[in-house]
Amino acid sequence: MQPIGVFDSGVGGLTVAKELFRQLPNEDIIYFGDTARVPYGIKSRETVIRFSIENILFLLKQNVKLICVACNTVSSVALPEIKNHFRVPLVGVITPAVREAVYATQNKRVGVIGTKGTVNSRTYENEIRQLDPEVKVTAVACPLFVPLVEEGWTKGEVVIDVVKKYLEPLKLARVDTVILGCTHYPLLKPVIEEVMGEKVALIDSAKQVAIEVKKILSGENMLNKKSHRGRHQFYVSDNPEWFNGMAKSFLGKSVPDAKKVNGV
Ligand code: DGL
Repeated sequence: MQPIGVFDSGVGGLTVAKELFRQLPNEDIIYFGDTARVPYGIKSRETVIRFSIENILFLLKQNVKLICVACNTVSSVALPEIKNHFRVPLVGVITPAVREAVYATQNKRVGVIGTKGTVNSRTYENEIRQLDPEVKVTAVACPLFVPLVEEGWTKGEVVIDVVKKYLEPLKLARVDTVILGCTHYPLLKPVIEEVMGEKVALIDSAKQVAIEVKKILSGENMLNKKSHRGRHQFYVSDNPEWFNGMAKSFLGKSVPDAKKVNGV
């Protein structure tokens, strides 16, 4: 009956939460967005690790039974370091996406796009190589994508130009599969598809992450058995009004107002 915890550096993790709400409708879910300290994508490894531990401790205080790390930067930079230090299951977004990409690629050329932190960590590359050493990975950081999405710029000429510029190396490398390795990128999917061409598979890990969470909970007999709909709660470390507005565009509907917490 305990809730599932989800956290992200801010609002982007809602793309993952949305899929959890859909696939696990009876679960109570607590979402925490670290809006006071976002973005994580440009911060040092040490800082991302420290923030992540604090966020996990906050969720543990809410008595969660599993934590979904709905942030690519945290999943790639901090999770490999900290995951064995907690008893609660920690589910990141990298492995489910990697599995799907390795399965999808026909020509064994995979592109990865994400924040600078995610790309510099090389976690995606390492995991892909572990699964299939023959796959050639081209990874590119796209730091302007997050602010574009947060400003609501998800289409139009300027966006197409920016996307074209960033994705040039992926086109040159002739990848047939691209991992959208950042929470915000699914909102740019139509433009990315337009630039890369419809034959290129775009992998957005949210669906696979939710399947993984369900599998773990069911394997441990920890699924919530109650038949009514789960309760969703939202916490942020700053600016709940901004979060509430953004949540609407990420989820396509209003959510219960986020509560501001002090000192996670
Ligand atoms: N949530 C982050 C990620 O998926 C993007 C925003 C940030 O840089 O904090 O990498």
